[in-house]
Amino acid sequence: MDLGLKNRVAVVAASSQGLGLATAAAFAAEGCRVAMCARNEQTLQAAAQKIGEQYAAQVFAEAFDVADSTAVSQFVSAVVNHFGGVDICVTNAGGPPAKGFLAATLDDWQHALDLNFLSTVYFAREVIPHMQRQHWGRIITITSITTKQPLADLVLSNAVRAAVVGLVKSLANEFGKDGILVNNVGPGFTATDRLKELAKSRSAASGKTEQEIFHAWAAETPLQRVGNPRELADTIVWLSSERASYITGQTVLVDGGAYKGL
Ligand SMILES: NC(=O)c1ccc[n+]([C@@H]2O[C@H](COP(=O)([O-])OP(=O)(O)OC[C@H]3O[C@@H](n4cnc5c(N)ncnc54)[C@H](OP(=O)(O)O)[C@@H]3O)[C@@H](O)[C@H]2O)c1
Repeated sequence: MDLGLKNRVAVVAASSQGLGLATAAAFAAEGCRVAMCARNEQTLQAAAQKIGEQYAAQVFAEAFDVADSTAVSQFVSAVVNHFGGVDICVTNAGGPPAKGFLAATLDDWQHALDLNFLSTVYFAREVIPHMQRQHWGRIITITSITTKQPLADLVLSNAVRAAVVGLVKSLANEFGKDGILVNNVGPGFTATDRLKELAKSRSAASGKTEQEIFHAWAAETPLQRVGNPRELADTIVWLSSERASYITGQTVLVDGGAYKGL
């Protein structure tokens, strides 16, 4: 299947490891030019170099915090200067801490809003005018299965990610006429450092071992395993492609069937 993505410029936020890194690599494998970011410069540049070499891809990488609107604006300008435009934008950031409602402080709420909601607003505001000019664009937000099914002790994710879905649907409605498709992907339990951190905090709270926590997650999933980051990345690449040209405003869960609803 020709995905029609060769030479497209794909921005992937928060992409030095985990789901973002897998997504940047998957775009590079399709012949896209890729722009990456994360806070830690050294890890980011190492990841960018590896992807560049592995796929003979053009990769642009800059270190900054996606919760900083000025930094996001400067980054998108730099990407446009470097590559001549931006076609695809995948928003992503580190996840909020695992906490119940009374344990979450007001600072936790503000931080989760900045990181997991407003960072998407910042990227969308910057990339949409470029996409409008070329009458083609894809914006994909990485959120969580919590957009469909709240999880215990993840009140920050459960609440804040719902706002991203509202934003996605609004942007899809407003900018469909400009050829811009906007969708959301919700990973279920996927084997990254973030999941190891979650296993650690659940282990400390429950007395179970981290291995038992992983087994329980796998058992909750009809496919009986946690996901591989590449499985989410491939979904994002397909949604960005010409082969998904009539899909917008949707949430696609990549969760091995873990969501229990219809
Ligand atoms: N893995 C799962 O099972 C799962 C399930 C549902 C939802 N999610 C969500 O998906 C997202 C990605 O998860 P992951 O598992 O890939 O996490 P991860 O392995 O911890 O990777 C996070 C990446 O984001 C970067 N990052 C974090 N905060 C940033 C910031 N403020 N500005 C710029 N870059 C930042 C990190 O690099 P630096 O630290 O250098 O900045 C790193 O490259 C998270 O929001 C997570 O909650 C994950």
